Amino acid sequence: MPRPLTLVTVAGAALFARLALRRRIRVSPLWPMPALAEPVSGRPRSRALRLRVAARAIVAEGVVQLRLEGGRLPGWEPGAHVDLVLPSGRVRQYSLCGDPADSAAYTVAVRLVAEGRGGRGGSREVHELLREGSEVEVRGPRNRFPLVAAPSYVFVAGGIGITPLLPMLRALPEDARWRLVLAGRTRASMPFLAEVERLGGDQVTVVEGRPDLDALLTDLPEGAAVYCCGPEGLMAAVAERVPHVRLERFAPGSLRDGTAFEVELRRSGRVLTVPADSTALAAVRAALPDTAYSCEQGFCGTCRQRVLAGEVDHRDELLGDAERADSMLLCVSRARSRRLVLDM
Ligand code: FES
Repeated sequence: MPRPLTLVTVAGAALFARLALRRRIRVSPLWPMPALAEPVSGRPRSRALRLRVAARAIVAEGVVQLRLEGGRLPGWEPGAHVDLVLPSGRVRQYSLCGDPADSAAYTVAVRLVAEGRGGRGGSREVHELLREGSEVEVRGPRNRFPLVAAPSYVFVAGGIGITPLLPMLRALPEDARWRLVLAGRTRASMPFLAEVERLGGDQVTVVEGRPDLDALLTDLPEGAAVYCCGPEGLMAAVAERVPHVRLERFAPGSLRDGTAFEVELRRSGRVLTVPADSTALAAVRAALPDTAYSCEQGFCGTCRQRVLAGEVDHRDELLGDAERADSMLLCVSRARSRRLVLDM
């Protein structure tokens, strides 16, 4: 009589094979369970593409969908995202929500987030400046949120957080066991709601307002892969209840587990304090307002500075080991030593 874990493992392996064969996608094996903080697959120094907005549509209240075309595009898998280099030079990450088999286009959907309510101006640029016919630089795609093979799945999406999950739902075999909690302010504000309900039927729980996670996340099936994408508060709440949840996060992650440290700007003769709840970039820009930056998420490299002394807590996904030996990205990385000395 096989033990339960063996049965689960066999079921996961079988699903893994079906996913890979049917959908021709690469699926990361769940067994053994990868570490939570998986490294990004590949460095994000992918070539830049110049793509054209071939179609633009409002797909929910405050959500615009763009179809970006420009010849035959590099392939991607569910969970992947691209960087858009916006007209101002800002770099923003958006999940691909189209069909991976469509090599002629990348599709992204972007919710307009007002500045002062968590927005940093990128979504407004997308909504106001990227029109049909506009050109935009696109980098990627990259995938740090891959669909793994598992005996079952639980997805939790908050509003626009459905975008990386949608290609996963489409890719799962018809007999896969999964359920989705989709939360948003109102049904009208939830993009792709009709398709999600068509795909999942009663496997989909739509919640207007705050979901009761204690009720919705009890009795998770053994071995279930749990994915969440949405506002920071929702992801934190899910992670509190399900420590092995896989999260897709585009907001700056540098403030998690932060402790205060000092930054000495050797050439400027200044010593700054970086509070636990802020970034080295914010501290440096307060002293030197012309300090260059763009994505504020450790992707673009604009804020890289040379480090003369001190031990850096590197939190970016860009620099290689050689670069990390003497430089850091101010927007996300922090210090292991009490003070970092920068060549600024
Ligand atoms: S601003 Fe882009 S890596 Fe820091």
